[in-house]
Amino acid sequence: MKFFVDTANLEQIKEAQALGILDGVTTNPSLMAKEGIVGDANVKAHYRAICELVDGDISAEVIATDFEGMIKEGQELADLHENIVVKVPMTIDGIKAIRWFSDNGIKTNCTLVFSAGQAILAAKAGATYLSPFIGRIDDMNWDGIELIAQIADIYSIQGYSTEILAASIRNPLHIVRAAEAGADVCTCPLKSILGLAKHPLTHIGLAQFLADHKKANS
Ligand code: G3P
Repeated sequence: MKFFVDTANLEQIKEAQALGILDGVTTNPSLMAKEGIVGDANVKAHYRAICELVDGDISAEVIATDFEGMIKEGQELADLHENIVVKVPMTIDGIKAIRWFSDNGIKTNCTLVFSAGQAILAAKAGATYLSPFIGRIDDMNWDGIELIAQIADIYSIQGYSTEILAASIRNPLHIVRAAEAGADVCTCPLKSILGLAKHPLTHIGLAQFLADHKKANS
């Protein structure tokens, strides 16, 4: 399973990159706004900066909601760098845009996905990635991981090549369960990635090793 970091914060991207396990980055309009990146020129410069930090697919989301606007904006984003993946919301205009991008060699990430039906449409349109939002589904007391497993089964049966990009990750367990359910990619907050390494018995065991070494060598 590929690891993407879900942030527009350059310091967090640098920290994730330094782990040596990072395969890409996803952003969204809320994450860009959180970093105070406003204005077309600043947004494009920020995406370029991310592309210079990470040699992997970088998802940049369109703001336009109409087909023509998505195409215009998405082409501008794709022209920024060869690693840009145009992120498009799961709407009728979004499906049409994904098909256009697919036919024109531009990679896409279909986002705000919450059902298997939406996943089938995105795959048929030729989406490169599909982003089911696990955390937001769980927040509604449904099972986000169950959706990942259902989509993985459908994609395998139908032979779809769209990669399942588990998104809206809330904790390290989401990452583990997404891997179990068949996600191709997991885009995670840095905290969740770092949390995978933590276990109290590891901490206790290392402390004891060091204490025993110190005692024996004193
Ligand atoms: O960036 C897409 C997705 O990961 C956002 O998740 O945390 O806003 O539910 P979240």
